[in-house]
Amino acid sequence: MSLVRLLYASTISDSFNADDIKQILASAQRNNAKENVTGMLTFDRHYFLQCLEGSRENVNAIYHRIASDSRHEKLEILDYQSVNFREFPNWNMGYLQNTGTLIKLFFKYNANGLFDPYHMTPEGAFMLLLEIRDEADNALKNNEG
Ligand SMILES: Cc1cc2nc3c(=O)[nH]c(=O)nc-3n(C[C@H](O)[C@H](O)[C@H](O)COP(=O)(O)O)c2cc1C
Repeated sequence: MSLVRLLYASTISDSFNADDIKQILASAQRNNAKENVTGMLTFDRHYFLQCLEGSRENVNAIYHRIASDSRHEKLEILDYQSVNFREFPNWNMGYLQNTGTLIKLFFKYNANGLFDPYHMTPEGAFMLLLEIRDEADNALKNNEG
């Protein structure tokens, strides 16, 4: 099976409300687990940035479903490539709840401190998600005591 990794940015639409995020994550975790897709999602008040990894067939299918979701718009693929291994093996769809840490990371990767994935380099956007993964892994470890 050939593994691929897809990275995209999108804009939160008017039909999105803050409660939707729980439902999005629940759907993502349930569906992605079935299709052996893993990844990471981050967002602020304006934008989403998401990475999906898995077989080409499954990543493509999930991306097409996500792309037709009216809770976001202006999807832009930042990167799509074959990869040798997964970077988010523990996360069917991970995210980081700690807003303080997220804001620090957004500052680190966005010149003016405002999270804007459309204007990040693909490498920068991916590195941001890797750092978020590390924080999310730590949070999980600490919760488990
Ligand atoms: C930013 C964003 C990210 C999403 N990520 C995923 C995902 O990784 N996997 C997934 O199955 N659905 C994801 N969704 C939700 C899908 O668009 C869709 O609502 C869902 O897959 C429908 O499945 P359900 O009927 O099982 O809830 C995402 C939606 C948004 C707005």
